[in-house]
Amino acid sequence: MRYLVTGGAGFIGSNYIHYLLEKYQDIKIINLDKLTYAGNLENLKDVENDSRYKFVKGDIGDVKLVDALVQQTDVLVNFAAESHVDRSIGTPDAFIKTDIFGTFVLLEACRKHGIQKFVQISTDEVYGSTLKGAFREDSPLMPSSPYSASKAGADRLAYSYHVTYNLPVIITRCSNNYGPNQYPEKLIPLFVTNALEGKNLPIYGAGKNVRDWIYVLDHCDAVDFVIHHGKDGEVYNIGGGNERTNLEITDIILKELDQPETLKVFVKDRPGHDLRYAVDCTKLKQMGWQPQYEFEKGMKLTIDWYTANQDWWKKIKSGEYLNYYRQQYQIS
Ligand code: NAD
Ligand code: DAU
Repeated sequence: MRYLVTGGAGFIGSNYIHYLLEKYQDIKIINLDKLTYAGNLENLKDVENDSRYKFVKGDIGDVKLVDALVQQTDVLVNFAAESHVDRSIGTPDAFIKTDIFGTFVLLEACRKHGIQKFVQISTDEVYGSTLKGAFREDSPLMPSSPYSASKAGADRLAYSYHVTYNLPVIITRCSNNYGPNQYPEKLIPLFVTNALEGKNLPIYGAGKNVRDWIYVLDHCDAVDFVIHHGKDGEVYNIGGGNERTNLEITDIILKELDQPETLKVFVKDRPGHDLRYAVDCTKLKQMGWQPQYEFEKGMKLTIDWYTANQDWWKKIKSGEYLNYYRQQYQIS
C-alpha cells in the first residue's frame, strides 16, 4: 500500500508514520510537509534511511507538486494544518490557506487521478463547546475559533467530494492528543517543559475548561482502524474518555515533577475560549475499536519523554518560539 501522509513532520503525523512503519512491512510512505515552525524532521530521524519512507518538503497548496504525488498514492491521510487555536486568533490567514485551500488542492488532485482512500483528519473542535452530554457524529457544527472554523470548512469540503464526486472520503474528529513530539505551545508539553525549567505555568482564566485527552498512539491506531473498517462518506469521532479540567492537568504535572504549587499563575483568558469539548465515540466502539492507553499511564510516558528528551524541546524553545511567546504574553 502506498501512503501519502501530509503534515507528517508534526506531532501526530510523525507518530502516525512511526506507527505505520512498525505495523506494516509492505508499505511505502511519502511524507509531504512544508516544515512550518511546527514541522520537525528530528521527529523522524530514526526512520529517515528506511527504504519504505521518503520525505518531500512542500506545501499541500502547491497544485503541481500535489498532482505528481497523488499519482503515486493509494491512501492519503491529511494531517497538514495550522493547528494552534491561539495563533489562529492572532493570525488567521495561514489557517484559511492551509486548512481550507490546502485541503481543496488535495481533494482536487484525488478527484483527477483517483484514490483508494482519502482520510481527512478533522477535530472535535468543529462541534464547538458544550456544558453537558457529548457530541455525536450527526451533531451540528458550531466552531468558534478561526482554527476550528477552518477545520470545519475542510471537513465539510471533504464530505462534499464524497457526495458530489463519489471520492472515498473518511473524516475523523479526534479529541485532544498528548504524547511525545508535541510542539511546546500546547497545554501539556508547555506545562511539562516549563515545570522542568522551574518556570510559571500560565493557566488561562480560572482553569476550569475541560478537554478529553487521548494518547497520540491511540489516535494513530483509530485512524488505521477506520482506513480498514470504516465506510466511505462517514465521520468517526475518536476520544480517549479522559475528561479533565486544565487545573487537574496542571496538578498532575506539578505532582509528577515534584514542583511547587507556586508555579501556577492565572493569566488573561483566551478570547472565545471553549469551555468543554466532549465526543461520543459509540459508533467507533461498536465497530470494535477501543483506546489502549490509560490516562495515568499515558501521562507518565509523556512526562518521562519530555524529561528524557530535553535537547528536543530546548532547541525549539530557544528559536522562533521565543518571539511568539514574547508577543503572546507581551514580555520583552
Ligand atoms: P502540528 O502543528 O504539530 O503539525 C502540523 C504539521 O503540518 C507540521 O509538520 C507542519 O509543518 C505541517 N504543515 C502545516 N502547513 C502545511 C502546508 N501548507 N503544507 C504541508 N505541510 C504543512 O499539528 P498536530 O497537533 O500534529 O495536528 C495534526 C492534525 O491533527 C491537524 O490537522 C489537526 O487539526 C488535527 N488534530 C489535532 C489534535 C491535537 O490534539 N493535536 C486533535 C484532533 C485533530
Ligand atoms: O480538541 C482537539 C484540539 O485540541 C485540536 O484540534 C487542536 O489542534 C489542539 O491544539 C487542541 O486545541 P486546544 O485549544 O484544546 O489545545 P491547547 O493545548 O492549546 O489548550 C488546551 C487547554 O489549555 C485550553 O482550554 C486552553 C488551555 N491553556 C492552553 C495553553 C497553551 C492554558 O490554560 N494555558 C496555556 O498556556
